[in-house]
Amino acid sequence: MSNESSSSSSSSRSSSGKPLKRIHLAAHFPGVNNTTVWSDPQAGSQIEFSSFAHLARTAERAKFDFLFLAEGLRLREQNGLIYDLDVVGRPDTFTVLAALAAVTDRLGLAGTINSTFNEPYEVARQFASLDHLSAGRSAWNVVTSWDAFTGENFRRGGFLREEDRYARAQQFLEASWRLFDSWRGDEVLADRASGAFLSDPRAGEFAYRSSEFDIAGRFDVPRSPQGRPVIFQAGDSEQGREFAAASADAIFSRHGTLEAGKAFYADVKSRLARYGRSPDSLKILPAVTFVLGDTDAEAHEKAELVRRQQVSGQTAIRLLEQVWNRDLSDLDPEGPLPEADPLVGEHTVAQGRASVRMNRDPLAVAREWRALAEAKNLSVRDLVIEVTGRQSFIGTPARVAEELNRFVQEDASDGFILAPHLTPGGLDEFADTVVPLLQERGVFRTEYEGSTLREHLDLPSPTDTRTKETT
Ligand SMILES: Cc1cc2nc3c(=O)[nH]c(=O)nc-3n(C[C@H](O)[C@H](O)[C@H](O)COP(=O)(O)O)c2cc1C
Repeated sequence: MSNESSSSSSSSRSSSGKPLKRIHLAAHFPGVNNTTVWSDPQAGSQIEFSSFAHLARTAERAKFDFLFLAEGLRLREQNGLIYDLDVVGRPDTFTVLAALAAVTDRLGLAGTINSTFNEPYEVARQFASLDHLSAGRSAWNVVTSWDAFTGENFRRGGFLREEDRYARAQQFLEASWRLFDSWRGDEVLADRASGAFLSDPRAGEFAYRSSEFDIAGRFDVPRSPQGRPVIFQAGDSEQGREFAAASADAIFSRHGTLEAGKAFYADVKSRLARYGRSPDSLKILPAVTFVLGDTDAEAHEKAELVRRQQVSGQTAIRLLEQVWNRDLSDLDPEGPLPEADPLVGEHTVAQGRASVRMNRDPLAVAREWRALAEAKNLSVRDLVIEVTGRQSFIGTPARVAEELNRFVQEDASDGFILAPHLTPGGLDEFADTVVPLLQERGVFRTEYEGSTLREHLDLPSPTDTRTKETT
């Protein structure tokens, strides 16, 4: 399989003579949060298989690298209630990806699975199985969300301290690699004449002992086409970045602007040498959104409309409550920000991952938001629209193609995980209009060249980089 040499290779060159990097693209199935326009008349189900199949088929038609599923193990609550943005829930990752494997041939299938509340044997079996069923298209986004609220679902509320989350993740991954590697790949003989099924009766034997795990036995899934799933990481802390530099093949990042993207890219890539890895062996893929139009002005108008749909008055109040840490249900979303300061200390409003938002100096955030609201004369809703992000790429297909390419050639990323604002048809227009322009520029494939996800991502095979493991 090709690796380093093909990752940046292309027949096309930039005006400076530098070989053009090829862009990697993925489709994010919209999750259960405020980026989801479930209230749009065109929005479909987020739980029926037809929606997943639609997005996957569009992504494969457009020759995308993979489809990506995030994970939420507990519905978010606010003031003790599930709020409307979360009500649809999220079906189980492995079940969805296995079903998608049956209706696609080449598209990679990436699932987010938590390393805090699961066990390596179970997760390794599931990924090895998915890799078999999909003929080598599986990827695992290793996340470490550890909050006690989510843990209650597993009778493990608060069992892991925040500072230990990556130690467990690293050991979890090492244990999983031990399991995947317990089969070499040549053991199954199935020789009818001699009656021998295995060439090696010890196939699948493993043992892994660490501070978090003490497991030994036999792994029951023979080596899968990729050997190990492609590994993603999606944490942003110092520990998260080191974890990615040591062990991941790709990062799902939130640094989707040019400047932030460049800084993150340079930071993470510079960490790789310490682990004996080349810069090409870790792909940086920020989550980004897009809005297309026949003219740039029309696209900007549409983008504003989408933002207003995403942040209803009620949503604006819910998000404000996460910072103010108070019940603000009586506040008028079209009026000014609350006069009282945020409550500091115990989390009384939101639980789980939303509570993390409140850990970041709420008084400073409130000061900043007040200043912004005053300077621009913004209502609560306008302010929340302003501060909770906006679409990353807005314009005609030609403008969006040009900008996407610029980000990649200027090393702000190696590609993108595109989060359409509509389910399931939100990627259709992009596939039909932007992708052909990227292909014309010679920066995106016109046909799949390999069959595995590792090949799509131009990643070295796992044995090339994973040499040091401890017992
Ligand atoms: C872009 C991005 C996407 C994430 N997606 C998920 C997710 O789908 N499910 C989840 O449990 N955690 C998710 N996380 C949380 C992180 O994976 C990680 O568990 C948490 O942020 C703690 O790590 P950190 O302190 O290094 O950021 C995401 C984080 C980022 C930055």
